[in-house]
Amino acid sequence: MSHALSDAPASSGALASVMTLEQFILDRRDRFPQSTRAFARLLRDVSVAAKIINHNIRRAGILDVMGETGTVNVQDEKQKKLDEIADRELERALRRGGECCLIGSEEQPETVSLSPHGNFQERFAVFFDPLDGSSNTDVNASVGTIFSVYTLPEDIDEEDSLDVTLRPGAEQVAAGYVAYGSSTMFVFTTGNGVNGFTLDPGIGEFLLTHPDLQIPQERAMYSINEADIEDFSPKLRAFLQWLKTKDPDTGARIRARYIGSFVSDFHRNLLTGGLYMYPARTNYPNGKLRLMYEANPMAFLVEQAGGRASTGHQRVLDLQPEGVHQRTPLFIGSAPLVEAAEAYLQDREEEVPRVA
Ligand code: AHG
Ligand code: MN
Ligand code: MN
Repeated sequence: MSHALSDAPASSGALASVMTLEQFILDRRDRFPQSTRAFARLLRDVSVAAKIINHNIRRAGILDVMGETGTVNVQDEKQKKLDEIADRELERALRRGGECCLIGSEEQPETVSLSPHGNFQERFAVFFDPLDGSSNTDVNASVGTIFSVYTLPEDIDEEDSLDVTLRPGAEQVAAGYVAYGSSTMFVFTTGNGVNGFTLDPGIGEFLLTHPDLQIPQERAMYSINEADIEDFSPKLRAFLQWLKTKDPDTGARIRARYIGSFVSDFHRNLLTGGLYMYPARTNYPNGKLRLMYEANPMAFLVEQAGGRASTGHQRVLDLQPEGVHQRTPLFIGSAPLVEAAEAYLQDREEEVPRVA
């Protein structure tokens, strides 16, 4: 499947597209829910931070940025040096831009109120996972950044800021991720489809390479940490068995892929079709992934790409958040596969759709 905008063969050296992310944001401003200068600047700020993070990741191993910092974050996870760098760069970019009121980061215990500056009509709150899959950094595997954007009332004060910002994912105005893989991609939505941009390292620009992404409906891939199977419910085990059963007519079977970096696993499944799962486990009824900066932004993206995201029992985007670091079970990807998971988990096996 090629998303390139020209027919030039890959070896010709011709650029697939010369539409930069910045041009795209300016050109499509009227199609964004927020057609303001502030919103365009916000996206630009996130993309600048992404380039700086990318620069650090690409030199990992040469610079002293690998390994742990010796500290743990609020979720008791060991922080990596790159977690800290990514967190700092995103916060810096958003502070500098002046249009963001409040940030919530995986690496910071509480939301942080920024003093916006500049004469903007709109103020934003941004939640982010600065470096996702950071256990992969030391082994040269793919990682990512995830972000989620909400609009805030203009008169927000520090006291009520947290209550005001903990809104269901359905109210996001933008969301996206950066995948630092064999190439670096910036993929985002503002509620009007999903577009993907690839970083041209030579000119330092993200170029539109994957316009209007739609997730294939096939059961191409499934992604889950199956080493946890003993902690899965019998219903989930039954579903996994169904998933792995060959199509009786065609003999087609699903493939398993699990990188352990949500962004990378999600990105691959978005392009090929498939299902990513991080389910509830015994002792972890809410799974592992965090609602505000992992599940919600990806749920918004996947729905915009024609897919589905569920806890197994309800739509992720309808959950009312109660905390910045709240976790949720997650089934996300091609709609028929997510529906099949829901049918199994809700004892409606007879309603499992046929998936090619
Ligand atoms: P993070 O590095 O931001 O803490 O996220 C790690 C997440 C996610 O990226 C990945 O899919 C999952 O943890 C892997 O967890 P397991 O090792 O339990 O499979
Ligand atoms: Mn993560
Ligand atoms: Mn992280």
